Amino acid sequence: MSDTKLKRVDLIFGEYSNVKYKVLEDTLKRSTDEILEDLLESGLRGRGGAGFPTAMKWKYTAQAPGEEKYVVCNADEGEPGTFKDREILTRVPRKVFSGMAICGKVIGAKRGYIYLRGEYKFLLPDLNKELTDYHEHAKTIGLDFLIEIKLGSGAYICGEESALFESMEGNRGEPRNKPPYPTTYGYLGKPTVINNVETFVNVLMIMRLGPIQFKMLGTTDSRGSKVFSVSGDTPIPGIYELELGMPLDRFVDEFGDGDAKAVQVGGASGFCVPRKKFKDTVIGFEGVPTGGSMMLFNSSRSMFNVLHNYLEFFEEESCGQCTPCRVGCQQLRKGIEAVKKGDKKSLYLDQLLKLSESMRLTAKCGLGQSVANSFSSIVYNFKEEMIY
Ligand SMILES: Cc1cc2nc3c(=O)[nH]c(=O)nc-3n(C[C@H](O)[C@H](O)[C@H](O)COP(=O)(O)O)c2cc1C
Ligand code: SF4
Repeated sequence: MSDTKLKRVDLIFGEYSNVKYKVLEDTLKRSTDEILEDLLESGLRGRGGAGFPTAMKWKYTAQAPGEEKYVVCNADEGEPGTFKDREILTRVPRKVFSGMAICGKVIGAKRGYIYLRGEYKFLLPDLNKELTDYHEHAKTIGLDFLIEIKLGSGAYICGEESALFESMEGNRGEPRNKPPYPTTYGYLGKPTVINNVETFVNVLMIMRLGPIQFKMLGTTDSRGSKVFSVSGDTPIPGIYELELGMPLDRFVDEFGDGDAKAVQVGGASGFCVPRKKFKDTVIGFEGVPTGGSMMLFNSSRSMFNVLHNYLEFFEEESCGQCTPCRVGCQQLRKGIEAVKKGDKKSLYLDQLLKLSESMRLTAKCGLGQSVANSFSSIVYNFKEEMIY
């Protein structure tokens, strides 16, 4: 057991003087170049999973030609094991609105949308009340940036940015071909910044604290803190804000039940890390990244069942638009079932691993491309649990 506890942080949830949108007001007085410089200096990378540098995304969208631009907050939160955006929107909605309004100023947008996961409909009354307050305040300070909430309908794929725009436009939520990227062709075909809920809050806190203080948290590749949703075999499940770049063994010391055999980092589309690799795994962009989901499994769990459950999820949630994902998800599920039953030899797992790698290379969007993450990390590390 490590003798020091992981550093708890309260950058995202902490109380601060934004009661009357003070930080937003102060930031709006600054030039867009100054704001972008601070963002760049902070090293902030998106908190939705892929970790794209936020300053660059905003800069490209600001530079894109056209008068009509949009800001979209991705609150679809569909990754299994992730429930932190719900908590952020419940506890600090003003920080989210402020981050979006700052983005509006930087890219020259007058409209922002929060795409809210359908199952979070119960948040609407409180969020709309807060939004009324925001709009009243915006009027008093002459801020021309309106925010509206659009509700999803419970499809995981609608968290993928281009499928999300399609869904917002009233179409079936299917990913678009990329390029063009949202920075030039997003909502309604206009330049759009889309960021995760937590990313917008980070922006506001960088504006409040300055990039230097922000950078004091985390590592060179993973600046700042992260809100984690901790679930599974842990005596203390819940939401925790911790410094990025922590070693996984220390995380397990603190959150595990003493019998952890694996941690699934980043949900079903993330990686499964076995106990023997806890010590050498860093949670962050330089190691294993996560949008927030941390699921612990102890020795009572069957990793075959865990993988089977993920594959059923992907099969169900695949939009069916491209063959590698539509057919591949099914074949991987059927394949591990056949090996487990003894209908196929264990060598067949090698063919399935090859299939998952071709999905990574050929699937159209992140859903199909990321199936190989959990598939290969579970099959390689828990092969004995996959066979008859
Ligand atoms: C299948 C799929 C589901 C996704 N779901 C979410 C989601 O629920 N929330 C989110 O912020 N990003 C999600 N993403 C990532 C988004 O496409 C996008 O990269 C992200 O919203 C960008 O925000 P960021 O730069 O702040 O991370 C998903 C991606 C894929 C492929
Ligand atoms: S990879 Fe899957 S979810 Fe993505 S476009 Fe292809 S079928 Fe749809």
